Amino acid sequence: MDSSSAQERPKLVVLISGSGSNLQAIIDQVGNGTIDADISLVLSNNPDVMGLQRASAAGINTEVINHREYDSRDSFDRELIRRIDAEQPQLVILAGFMRIFTPAFTNHYAGRMLNIHPSLLPEFKGVNTHARAIEAGANQHGASVHFVTSELDGGPLVIQAIVDVNEDDTAETLAGKVLQQEHTIYPIVVKWFCEGRLSLDGNQVRLDKQSLPPQGIAHRAES
Ligand code: GAR
Repeated sequence: MDSSSAQERPKLVVLISGSGSNLQAIIDQVGNGTIDADISLVLSNNPDVMGLQRASAAGINTEVINHREYDSRDSFDRELIRRIDAEQPQLVILAGFMRIFTPAFTNHYAGRMLNIHPSLLPEFKGVNTHARAIEAGANQHGASVHFVTSELDGGPLVIQAIVDVNEDDTAETLAGKVLQQEHTIYPIVVKWFCEGRLSLDGNQVRLDKQSLPPQGIAHRAES
């Protein structure tokens, strides 16, 4: 962090749409001091999701901005920006947030918004990644953490967790293995960012001032 905020713990805003298990992994590591930051707000576009309960249970402010109540992507994104910026967060974390953003939104948070996606990007952008990986006969699958740009699931990669696909894997078993890895790699990346070790320079990701390769860091699941 820069010197003006050196005394303050970085503030995080987390956006969710559902179960919030990645949110929980981050809450846990903030709670035990591994990540030195405050989660100031959890925002969901869906009411009544488990992720909101997880946040409330941890004493974190929550809010719902229901996209169904907005007549355009623009107006929904504008409201999100208004609400997020009121918190003045250093980092915006997409943790299973299942809405496509306008370029105005992604540009606004360039270099300070992360996403986790359940595939080894650039493979299997979009949804149903586990079933598609099995259908394609992939030997390896996984999850990627990346900075968010206007290209859907296409921003610069920070880390990829790689899991083997076994012959008897189904989309469900594979999803479980990948999700477990997500809970490992996402808090690591958030910690790096909060410590001022991770940054985006143009399209280049830097960790401890070193440029990362295009596919980011490879994290292999122990089997
Ligand atoms: C996770 O698998 C995450 O990678 C995925 O949604 C799930 C959310 O789970 N995100 C995307 O597909 C984004 N394109 P969670 O709510 O339990 O963290």
